Amino acid sequence: MRREIGEKQNKIQNQSIYLVSQLRSEIPQITGLKTGVEGLDNLFFVSYLDKKGKPHIKPIGGFPSFGIINITGIPDTGKSLMAEQFALTQASLGHPVCFVTVEQPAVFVATGLRNKAASMGIDFEAIEDRLIIIDASTNTVLREDLSSLLDTLAYAIKSYKTKVTIIDSITGLYEAREMMARMIVRSLFTFLKKWRQTALFISQKRSGHEELTAEAAGGYAVGHILDGTIVLFKKEIMSRYDQILYGKEIGNLIRLLRIDGCRLCGHDPRVHVVEILENGIIRIREPLESYLKKIRKEGKGGQNIE
Ligand SMILES: Nc1ncnc2c1ncn2[C@@H]1O[C@H](COP(=O)(O)OP(=O)(O)O)[C@@H](O)[C@H]1O
Ligand SMILES: [Mg+2]
Repeated sequence: MRREIGEKQNKIQNQSIYLVSQLRSEIPQITGLKTGVEGLDNLFFVSYLDKKGKPHIKPIGGFPSFGIINITGIPDTGKSLMAEQFALTQASLGHPVCFVTVEQPAVFVATGLRNKAASMGIDFEAIEDRLIIIDASTNTVLREDLSSLLDTLAYAIKSYKTKVTIIDSITGLYEAREMMARMIVRSLFTFLKKWRQTALFISQKRSGHEELTAEAAGGYAVGHILDGTIVLFKKEIMSRYDQILYGKEIGNLIRLLRIDGCRLCGHDPRVHVVEILENGIIRIREPLESYLKKIRKEGKGGQNIE
């Protein structure tokens, strides 16, 4: 269709054009925020050249600051445990944390946090006032009206000066309207960036999705909007082959983790073995490759090595 002269509504958005030199004072320094998960802090790093021009890497010591990281996996892989450990660790370091719960009511989140604090040796009463819970699980408006959720978040971030935001889970914000998933996640991403939060977004994978990929429920690839993705995975040992390969008895589990991209800093790309202890603490062990080598060396195939 021919467009008439003068009809065009486009406007140059010159407020969105920047010279990098103008941004200099605002460019954030990326540091690490302790994850509270043993073995995870060292998997994010920066690289630099020494005086001889030789490349090196240096762990930043946690999740990259101002990063919005997607933690995805099928149910019962330790996503919420990871979020809880991060929240408690940051609160115990003096940083107020905003925890948006979409799945379980606030009191149950508080119970989980209290029990977890006891397992981690953190004095819960000392940090209670740094843990702010927004309960979207019992509030339909927060779950279904994005503007209300953003306004509530802005209010909580401003009032409590939070530095960290956790949403468990973003999937719960687009249940039954998955075509909205990317829009909702992008709005939350842009919003939390503006408020300079370091954030974890938990997303659910359906068990049918490929195991260690970032693809979240619905296949809408919400992870690609965010700064990085951690994929958690569990595999049941059900065949003789797995039994020999992983050195575990049939019926046991092997838990794995992979950092699937991070655009704010370097990261270890290897699959790592994960362990969830009896007291509900999640920790990262050696790379899978080293674990398998150890199994072969010790000739433990077919036996339970735990
Ligand atoms: N308080 C706890 N004590 C012991 N084990 C726990 C505790 N909480 C969770 N777990 C174990 O950790 C697994 C992962 O839990 P969770 O992080 O809630 O999974 P999800 O990935 O679905 O969020 C659970 O299936 C359970 O086996
Ligand atoms: Mg969970």
